[in-house]
Amino acid sequence: MMSNHLKFINLAHDIASKNLGKTFPNPSVGCIISKNNRIISRGVTSSTGRPHAEEIALKKAGKKSAGATMYVTLEPCFHSSQNGSCTDQILRSGIKEVYISCIDQDPRTKNKSINKLKRNKIKVIIGIQKDKTLSTNNFFFKSLLNKKPFTKVKMAISSDDKIAWSNYQSKWISNSKSRKYVHDLRSKTQAILTTSKTILKDNPRFTVRKNNKIIKYLNVVVIDKNLNTPLNTKLLKNLHERRVIIVTSKNNPRSQKFKQLGCEVLEMKIENNKLNLKKIFTHLYKLKISDLLVEAGGILFADLIKNKLVNEIHLFRAPIIIGEKGIPVIEGNTLKNIKKKLIETIKFEDNLYSKYKVN
Ligand SMILES: NC(=O)c1ccc[n+]([C@@H]2O[C@H](COP(=O)([O-])OP(=O)(O)OC[C@H]3O[C@@H](n4cnc5c(N)ncnc54)[C@H](OP(=O)(O)O)[C@@H]3O)[C@@H](O)[C@H]2O)c1
Repeated sequence: MMSNHLKFINLAHDIASKNLGKTFPNPSVGCIISKNNRIISRGVTSSTGRPHAEEIALKKAGKKSAGATMYVTLEPCFHSSQNGSCTDQILRSGIKEVYISCIDQDPRTKNKSINKLKRNKIKVIIGIQKDKTLSTNNFFFKSLLNKKPFTKVKMAISSDDKIAWSNYQSKWISNSKSRKYVHDLRSKTQAILTTSKTILKDNPRFTVRKNNKIIKYLNVVVIDKNLNTPLNTKLLKNLHERRVIIVTSKNNPRSQKFKQLGCEVLEMKIENNKLNLKKIFTHLYKLKISDLLVEAGGILFADLIKNKLVNEIHLFRAPIIIGEKGIPVIEGNTLKNIKKKLIETIKFEDNLYSKYKVN
């Protein structure tokens, strides 16, 4: 039979995964407090990142925390918030033991909270269901390590590896079930990375929609060396709902117009007639963008692969042939050439979804 400890830590993971996509750039953390084998409160990282899961659960439990056990999916924070760090709040609460799935890799906390709790005679058990924390918050650990956003490339492709017709005719390649799944992926994403070329061809909204209702406006980063993005394009209509970061060349006179609309403009040096994607990613991380879904064409995809900036590839393959003149999924390269590991496949009627790990 499953122990109560395992049951409660699993429950903490369940509530953490439900909030994934809402806590960026922070990880989504779940917390359960139990006493006499009964749950007395629960908490999950709030959508603005603060308060943390532990703070919410402790507040709900109040005085009942004394002598109770806490189950938390990530090491509690060591750095202070308004009410003191989560670690100090745990110490004040009278909690007697803490189960922690995973050590926080943020140097402000890493092992410091665990050591402080132990020094204060709290029993600390580390590591149960560690892999669940690592997979739910993969973006957090990877972006912290690389100081760049975790990057997923999504592509709908034909059976001959094309992403659009030669005349850029705007037509869906994947079926409605696949597209519904894309909205799921978007809902767990902090920002879309695209190009002005894809915006000009498709005029995308970059929203999450459920039953035709918009439930999230995604932040968008646009690679746009010459500022070709039309000021009246759909995604610029909702700037009060989302961040739009336009990446362009230095001293572009049109920058001001985008700033006036409410966009952030990131001006970068042109190198070999291109923007340096590695430098852009480092800047994006400093701007607190730690997770990207790429929705652009094969030219950007090729440049991202060349610069080793892709962590995952999500392919939706449809049983159609576009033909030799179609736009390739990756310019000057082939999918076969990319070193990748298949993680998951799902059939969406006649479409095949494949998820690959790259870096
Ligand atoms: N099937 C799908 O899942 C899917 C998804 C998205 C888009 N699409 C389709 O893809 C087609 C466009 O694909 P594409 O491969 O032709 O274009 P793309 O990759 O979307 O954009 C290429 C353009 O982006 C800019 N760019 C890329 N890397 C850059 C860098 N390092 N520095 C500066 N600029 C850079 C350049 O534009 P400039 O130099 O001109 O500024 C380049 O010409 C559209 O038809 C769209 O509908 C399909």
